[in-house]
Amino acid sequence: MEEIKRVGVVGGGQMGSGIAQIAATCGFDVILLDSDSSALQRGLHNIQSSINRFVSKGQLSQAMADDAIMRLKCSTDLRDLHSADIIIEAIVESEGSKKELFSQLDRIVKDSAILASNTSSISITRLATTTRRPRQVIGMHFMNPPPIMKLVEIVRGADTSDEVFAIVKTLAKRLGKTIICSLDFPGFIVNRILMPMINEAFFALYTGVATKEDIDTGMKLGTNHPMGPLELADFIGLDVCLSIMKVLHSGLGDSKYLPCPLLVQYVDAGRLGKKCGVGVYSYGMKSSPTSP
Ligand code: NAI
Repeated sequence: MEEIKRVGVVGGGQMGSGIAQIAATCGFDVILLDSDSSALQRGLHNIQSSINRFVSKGQLSQAMADDAIMRLKCSTDLRDLHSADIIIEAIVESEGSKKELFSQLDRIVKDSAILASNTSSISITRLATTTRRPRQVIGMHFMNPPPIMKLVEIVRGADTSDEVFAIVKTLAKRLGKTIICSLDFPGFIVNRILMPMINEAFFALYTGVATKEDIDTGMKLGTNHPMGPLELADFIGLDVCLSIMKVLHSGLGDSKYLPCPLLVQYVDAGRLGKKCGVGVYSYGMKSSPTSP
């Protein structure tokens, strides 16, 4: 298997654009792809702004920033990924959409390419079954925002080879990340523990135990979390949180994972969190939350 030089990222949303950014700033040739050209433009804009912030804080030289931008290409056409050594998928958290994409990628990319998913919860083993290369399919779960958060959770599917596991561990280290490894069970490590807490915060709000502000302040000051669970849910995206709870519920079969009806209702109403301006909180020009 070849050394990784070219990284393809599919999905130019908050995670995909962040993953493309760190890969480019760490010296890889990157192609960022989204099926929606306006999402791609937004992703590119976010990358440029984030890189500028790193430069203004003195964490990246202007020359390295220029170099990163030069090595980053964008596309809406999957065929442009034919020369990538690894493709990191970061599209919507839907098993059907990811399976469809993996099966398309399998037909387009070169035989040696690794197919990685940034999924928060979906089975890597099942995604791998849609390809003719299950040994080269793996989970590479970055945290949000990828340029800042230090962790990558690596998930081995039932058939992932030792060689692919080793290559992806090396790649994550070259991206400056600390690695944890999980077996392929719903929600892996981080979301299996985090999401039930967020869901429980929704239940506390739903049943009137406390205001959203008090729930968040309680967990920030009471347990030393940098963000309260409801604020964090808005940051992650309420649609993403709901999808993960559904995967935990169906995959682990325990009623303790039932999504809170209030979370379901917010998603039904299109209140998806910070990315669309309103979730549990409303977001104006400033990034700090206010009550709707
Ligand atoms: P997002 O909604 O910000 O971005 C998803 C992007 O994928 C959109 O730009 C959309 O146009 C694009 N897309 C959808 N279907 C596509 C397809 N078939 N081909 C190409 N592009 C397609 O979502 P976000 O938050 O970036 O999440 C992406 C993935 O990362 C999900 O699997 C999610 O569970 C995972 N994740 C999310 C985290 C978060 O905090 N939001 C943290 C870690 C992982």
